Amino acid sequence: MLEYYLAVTAHLTGVIFWLGGVGTRLVLLNSMKSGVNDGWRSQLYQAQRKIHLMLETPAFVVALLAGWFLAHAAKVKFSHSWFRAKIVLILGLIVIGLLVSRQFKALNASGRAGQAVPLLAALVVFTLLTLFAVLTKF
Ligand code: HEM
Repeated sequence: MLEYYLAVTAHLTGVIFWLGGVGTRLVLLNSMKSGVNDGWRSQLYQAQRKIHLMLETPAFVVALLAGWFLAHAAKVKFSHSWFRAKIVLILGLIVIGLLVSRQFKALNASGRAGQAVPLLAALVVFTLLTLFAVLTKF
């Protein structure tokens, strides 16, 4: 039982830092206007890259490994509809993270401001739907 609680703690800690990292990068993206100077743009690009590599990615790996352990411990199967929905939503969250990285690359290369608000809204909706799927196990 202790292992299970430790895995839940690791899982939720990983999820918080993973999605927190994506959210932080989106807030940074939203604060950038088109045509800001090259130096500031490249500093911001490096900062978001560090958040992605040093916070989001390790946190995602922790959440994934702990989630994998929980699936075995709680005998969760892909045949459970809530779990299938959760996996689809997680793929959606991964795509949101990739789109944020793409927008930062475009901003760094061309100086064109990104579309942070729709991505931020999608992040919030997908997170809430994921929580709904896990907590109701519909
Ligand atoms: C990274 C991929 C993920 C995998 C493989 C995964 C897998 C799992 C599994 C198998 C469980 C155990 C369910 C059970 O006790 O019957 C679980 C619990 C949970 N997961 Fe995830 N999950 C992932 C990501 C997420 C995300 C993105 C969120 C939130 C947005 C989340 C929130 C939760 C919550 C709140 C619990 C319930 C803990 C409890 O009540 O004991 N998970 N996860």
